[in-house]
Amino acid sequence: MTNDKNQKTFTLKNDETGQEFTLPVLEGTCGPPVIDIRKLYAETGHFTFDPSFTATGSCKSRLTFIDGEKGILMHRGYTIEELAEKSSFLEVAYLLLNGDLPTKPEFDKFQTNITYHTMVHEQINYFFRGFRRDAHPMAVMCGVVGGLSAFYHDSLDIWDPEQREISAHRLIAKIPTLAAMTYKYTMGQPFMYPRNDLSFSENFLYMCFGMPPEPFKLNPILADAMDKILILHADHEQNASTSTVRLAGSSQANPFACVASGIASLWGPSHGGANQAVLEMLDQIGHKDNIPEYLEKAKDKDDPFRLMGFGHRVYKNFDPRAGVLKKACHDVLEDLGIDDPRLELAMELERIALEDPYFVDRKLFPNVDFYSGIILKAMGFPTSMFTVLFAVARTVGWVSQWKEMIEEPALRIGRPRQLYTGPDQRPYVPIDKRK
Ligand code: CMC
Repeated sequence: MTNDKNQKTFTLKNDETGQEFTLPVLEGTCGPPVIDIRKLYAETGHFTFDPSFTATGSCKSRLTFIDGEKGILMHRGYTIEELAEKSSFLEVAYLLLNGDLPTKPEFDKFQTNITYHTMVHEQINYFFRGFRRDAHPMAVMCGVVGGLSAFYHDSLDIWDPEQREISAHRLIAKIPTLAAMTYKYTMGQPFMYPRNDLSFSENFLYMCFGMPPEPFKLNPILADAMDKILILHADHEQNASTSTVRLAGSSQANPFACVASGIASLWGPSHGGANQAVLEMLDQIGHKDNIPEYLEKAKDKDDPFRLMGFGHRVYKNFDPRAGVLKKACHDVLEDLGIDDPRLELAMELERIALEDPYFVDRKLFPNVDFYSGIILKAMGFPTSMFTVLFAVARTVGWVSQWKEMIEEPALRIGRPRQLYTGPDQRPYVPIDKRK
């Protein structure tokens, strides 16, 4: 790398021709520099090959920074530990959307805007009735969130800043309502209309666990834990679902459709579906004595079993969110007086795995999903709802990243290239002549 008139560059040499090409190097505020390859094809006739995006920056972003080696996660410059301890989910939502923490009047106005949009169009209730009661809640979410763009025609113009803001507020406000309706539908219970006198997390718990015949007894410990879980899942830079939202949005699709695509991407067990898979895995392991057997399965390349809630594409150290959740898990179970053997099993699994050379050598540590399921179970959520709760939180990240992308002057449709390995051109053979 050289430094020429303050512009760092990177020189590539073509071994065949001996020709050298100089590419600009860009530097962000934190993190490694990136080689700007936008002119690579025009200048060298080559594309780059990076199938799972292990070394490719897809955009510039001011929202979230992760240092995977050190286990650091920051939103707009604030560490996740500090936000989880001192902030609220709605304040973090404001921070991600707008760039700075709100003043008191700004926060009050934001809270009013969000609560103003918590109800969904009454017609949406009928969507639910088309689903089987035993449908997976994420399947229902893919459908009903995708359907939102059929209702809010007045905020679909992505080039109008006011409409962009309204649709962002609508998504943050309405997805918890839809998530709670999804839960109620699978339980065969009546939908609960939102209550705007409650905080964001209190209202969410009310819509899930409230019942019409009796007053709702709010448990502040659970509301606090819910808020913390939402903060920890709010954004995580260019993960699979966020990249899906950005790619969908790059074609100028409306934000409701883009967020529905993010929900679909989140569902997979390698991503947001891992929190459900962790609890199922703990139940499958059953007892501490069985841990060595399951660790051997996880290490066996011929066995599809993986240690769910372990490993991360970016973190090669402790996922800082897992540390916060491990503590919250203890606090919640203690406060509620719940003795869940799964917590002890999870801690023992973590201890043994972190001493095992397979996990040590590959830098596989517990991730955010390892402990979240145990708390959500203690709150009373069925495992099938866990990924839906992840979606409620990540909606904030999706809409903030989508908005940032649309406001970027150089917005162009995302269009990756490929390394074609199919047949070269060949003549068409009529069916009666094929062998
Ligand atoms: N159990 C056993 N081995 C693992 C695991 C695991 N959980 N994770 C990675 N490995 C091994 C993998 O087999 C590979 O070994 P080798 O080098 O011998 O081939 C090595 O570690 C590197 O793994 P990778 O699959 O190349 O890593 P990746 O960056 O492609 O995948 C991951 C990351 C999160 C999908 C993966 O670690 C995994 O499947 N973890 C379990 C699922 C999970 O907990 N997902 C939640 C991620 S955090 C929340 C979120 O993003 O939504």
